[in-house]
Amino acid sequence: MKLSDQEMRHFVSCVRELRHSAPVQEMRAYRQHGATTTYDHCIRVAYASYFLAARLHLSVDWERLVRGAILHDLYLYDWHEKKSGRPRLHGFRHPGVALQNARRHYQLSPLEEDIIQNHMWPLTIRSLPKSREAAIVCLTDKICSLAETVRRKEGGNRRK
Ligand SMILES: [Fe+2]
Ligand SMILES: [Fe+2]
Repeated sequence: MKLSDQEMRHFVSCVRELRHSAPVQEMRAYRQHGATTTYDHCIRVAYASYFLAARLHLSVDWERLVRGAILHDLYLYDWHEKKSGRPRLHGFRHPGVALQNARRHYQLSPLEEDIIQNHMWPLTIRSLPKSREAAIVCLTDKICSLAETVRRKEGGNRRK
């Protein structure tokens, strides 16, 4: 899963501003799956979303696709720990928390809001992705989450 040099330059230009902002950097403090931080997960989902759209020659808003993907899990707590500000039913509620945080810190477009709010479909059955970009992130989020979980299990097995 490798972008061409030109695609990589464009991807980096899309992530640059957000990547260095404090709320996005804060995601480095939280674990997502195994050793993967929420920050690493979001960057990975952004990269995979760009890659998928590029390889399928989809017509997308590249910058908003990448920005929405980076912000999709901006819920800013450790979901493994009950006392970290985690709401009950994290799986259902964290897209709303991420959207609130993202609105507080950034100027969001409707497309970016769609990506963040609806990335957990079909778990959140009524929160359906409404755009191509949101559907892409909804899909790549699941692929990346699965890969991160499998990697954790393999790492755990190797340590035994
Ligand atoms: Fe999520
Ligand atoms: Fe995610």
